[in-house]
Amino acid sequence: MAIRPILIHPDPRLKKVCPPVEAVDDEVRRVADDMLETMYAAPGIGLAAPQVGVLRRIFVMDCNRSDAGKEPVICINPEIVATGAERVKTEEGCLSIPEVYDEVERFETLTLRFLDRDGAVVERPLTGQWSICAQHELDHLDGRLFIDYLGAVRRTMITIRMKKLKREKARG
Ligand code: NI
Repeated sequence: MAIRPILIHPDPRLKKVCPPVEAVDDEVRRVADDMLETMYAAPGIGLAAPQVGVLRRIFVMDCNRSDAGKEPVICINPEIVATGAERVKTEEGCLSIPEVYDEVERFETLTLRFLDRDGAVVERPLTGQWSICAQHELDHLDGRLFIDYLGAVRRTMITIRMKKLKREKARG
């Protein structure tokens, strides 16, 4: 496994609609395993493939905050098959938009269908932070960032801040 560099907004690769994974093979597993390692190292609770420059429908997450241990989840070709009626507004952040947090409204519960690391179809009900995280990561696969839900002025300010951050990083 290896830690991969995380793309910082703005980047054209973060704006793409990613095509599905055609077969869950060793290459896909390698990407997913690297994504988990990258997410834990960041640290973060979710990471989508385009954030490491891989334009495929894969994301990983682990919203387990207890001391009971890690609960890594790999979602390949994920889709929401059902949602609850309730919506919740919570503060979100993104590893591609460091140190920026803002409120976004999401479904509180949903059922996610995806292929797991072995290519098996899984249908999993998600609630609370797991549900919110899945919606945030699924958005990434469609080229959508959480700041796209914010007002245009706020979004522009954040983008300017990120461009400055990238210039500073490039200078080293
Ligand atoms: Ni994100």
